[in-house]
Amino acid sequence: MADSRKPIISGNWKMHHNHFEAIQCVQKLHYRLESDDFASVEVTVHPPFTDIRSIQTLIESDKMKIGLGAQNCHWEEKGAFTGEIAPAMLAKLDVGHVIVGHSERRELFGETDDSVNKKVKAVIANSMVPILCCGETLEERQQSMAEAKVQGQVREGLAGLSGEMVSKLVIAYEPIWAIGTGETATAEDAQAMCAEVRQVVREAHGDKAADAVRVQYGGSVKPGNIVELMSQPDIDGALVGGASLEADSFAAIVQYRNH
Ligand code: 13P
Repeated sequence: MADSRKPIISGNWKMHHNHFEAIQCVQKLHYRLESDDFASVEVTVHPPFTDIRSIQTLIESDKMKIGLGAQNCHWEEKGAFTGEIAPAMLAKLDVGHVIVGHSERRELFGETDDSVNKKVKAVIANSMVPILCCGETLEERQQSMAEAKVQGQVREGLAGLSGEMVSKLVIAYEPIWAIGTGETATAEDAQAMCAEVRQVVREAHGDKAADAVRVQYGGSVKPGNIVELMSQPDIDGALVGGASLEADSFAAIVQYRNH
C-alpha cells in the first residue's frame, strides 16, 4: 500500500443495535482503542439512522477519534420523499462518511448504478466522503463475469466526477458471496479485484486519483484474516459487517498491526 493512503477500517452495523446498544458499543470501542491506533488507521462506524444523533453527542462530548458514518442517504436536498434522509441532514450531525450502493441496497431495494452515482455526487456536494460499494454475485464469479460487473459499477458509480473528487473517496470491493457467509475471498483474489478497481479509476480519472483513492475489502473480515488482507498492496482497509458489532472483535481488526 502506498504510504500516502491512510488505511480506513469501517464498521457497517446494518440493521443492528438500537441507540442504547450503539452507545455501549462505541464506548467500549473507544476504551479498547489507543490514540496510536488512530494515528495509523482511520476508523468509522456506520450505525442505523436512529442511533446517529446519540453517537454524535457521545463522540463530541468524549472527544473520541472514532468517525461517524451512515449506511445510505437520498440524493435530493429535500422534498416529498417519504422515509428518505437527505445528505445535508447527515452532514449536520457530523457524519463524515456515507456508504453508497451496498449490495444489500442494490439487491433488496432496487438501487441502480444511476441512483448510486447521484448519491455519490450528493454526498460529495455535502462535504462528506462516499464509500462506494461494488462486488459480484457467486454466479457472476463462476461465469467469469466478476471483473466486468465490478468495472461497470465503479465506472458508472463515479461517472461525471473530477479526478480531484475521486482521489478523496473510498471504494469498497465486497464480493456478495463472501458477505455474512463466513467465506472470505482469498487474499490473492481480493487483491486482484481491488487492483482492478484501481485500474478502472486510473483509466477514467487519471494516475493521481488512482494512486490516492482508498480501496477497502469487505466480506467476512475477522481478526483472523485481517492481517493477510491488509498486507496486500491494493487493499487500503476493510468494510466490516458482523465482526464490527462487538467492540472486542472490531478493535482487534483495527489493531491488526499488533497481531
Ligand atoms: P460481513 O462482514 O458480515 O460479511 O459483512 C460485510 C459487509 O457487507 C459490510 O458492508
